[in-house]
Amino acid sequence: MFHKIKSIILLIALLCISIAYGQVDQVKIESDSYEYDQDLLSPEFHQSRRNSLRKLLPEGSAIVFFSSPERNRSNDVYYEYHQNPNFYYLTGLREPNAMIVIYKDSQEFSTFSNNEVLFMQERDAKTELWNGRKLGMERAKSRLKITSILPNYNFVDFNSKFDSLKAVYYEAPFEIELKDTATTNNLSGLYYHFTKKNPIQLKDKQRIEGLLMAQLRQVKTQEELRLLRKAIDITCEAQNQLMKEITDTMTEFQTEAIIEYVFKKNGAEYTGFPSIQGSGENSCILHYTSNRRPLIRGGLLVSDIGAEYHGYTADVTRTLPPTGKFNKEQTQIYELVLKAQSAGIDAAIEGANFWQPGIVATEIIAEGLLKFGIIQHKNDVRKYFMHGTSHYLGLDVHDVGTYIPLVSGNVITVEPGIYIAEDSDCDPKYWNIGVRIEDDILITPEGPENLSAASPRSIKEIETLMEK
Ligand code: GLY
Ligand code: MN
Ligand code: MN
Repeated sequence: MFHKIKSIILLIALLCISIAYGQVDQVKIESDSYEYDQDLLSPEFHQSRRNSLRKLLPEGSAIVFFSSPERNRSNDVYYEYHQNPNFYYLTGLREPNAMIVIYKDSQEFSTFSNNEVLFMQERDAKTELWNGRKLGMERAKSRLKITSILPNYNFVDFNSKFDSLKAVYYEAPFEIELKDTATTNNLSGLYYHFTKKNPIQLKDKQRIEGLLMAQLRQVKTQEELRLLRKAIDITCEAQNQLMKEITDTMTEFQTEAIIEYVFKKNGAEYTGFPSIQGSGENSCILHYTSNRRPLIRGGLLVSDIGAEYHGYTADVTRTLPPTGKFNKEQTQIYELVLKAQSAGIDAAIEGANFWQPGIVATEIIAEGLLKFGIIQHKNDVRKYFMHGTSHYLGLDVHDVGTYIPLVSGNVITVEPGIYIAEDSDCDPKYWNIGVRIEDDILITPEGPENLSAASPRSIKEIETLMEK
């Protein structure tokens, strides 16, 4: 008995501590044969996101989101399914053929009243036998914390009350599907046909849904940061493993294999974007992904990678010499990019202009290229540093955001680079040198936190890790 009271006191104390810190670190969800992972975003998270979106909605309106469609690759093979990040953020559902309507105010429908309704696919024994288990409406109620759930084919007959609303906003990223013939498996098609028959005031042209979702998604909660940190930790482990294993007798696809083995081994469901393993001349191609070149042909390797863990993706770049040693020109360019990046990271502070890290980094690169005689005028810096320095990071690698001054909870990349393609207008000793260094930075009241600091950036540390 005493033991029991002691446990209860301990439990209450633990609860108080977690409330005091405003976060629950490990979210436990029911695990069964549909879902084995126990560290997904909680149903409460998705519910709170819907409520926050509802607060931002104009009076008397509703907003509609669709799940991503399944996309055919060829014949009866489909691309690996990936949910629409907005839909995932708002519901947690990772299945196609679904649609959610979020109303500003609760509506009286014929059999229930609610301020949100989810339409989703029903379970089906035959397709589940072939393709895997489906969540189904019953489990969805507790898993998604949505109380009004209907089968997706009910949408056409359902009186959604749109004609009594001032506006219905909808996200329509799937232009092709919107023009498709309506089928029960194609909710956006159904919706398109429905809205043509029913003259309601649609506001998609204003793209309000993009703006509202950007406002929400650009500030990460503690729950989201838990997953983002995990994705970034996995990605750093992959970069470090690559540094330890790489030799110049490998090919780009073999370095990709080392990376993606570490991703999968750690439970990352996807890569957040195709892994970039660009060596030699390919180090100067910003989003190179074919990854077929043998490293023995020389040059640096730009390794730009991101594991995606439960929806959240990392984006970390390291540049390595496959031989294990940077040569003189490579060192010059690398040190310049590193100096620019470090200054850019230092500039990523609360209240700073979103573009400030880029302004600072670009100035340093311009000065350096001028000093090396690679450019003759500072204005020519864009010839060799032709991309932005920062983007938001989250459910998308190039995540949504409003580009207002930085606030605590933003996560951005800082990723300057220099790319000197063959035949550039400079000393040929610099040709085919491409360098990018990219880290993922959390804005905090205490200053920038480098979430990807676990993978080394200095030449000395990289060369040491590469020693065989
Ligand atoms: N990996 C793409 C980028 O760095 O933006
Ligand atoms: Mn990036
Ligand atoms: Mn990147």
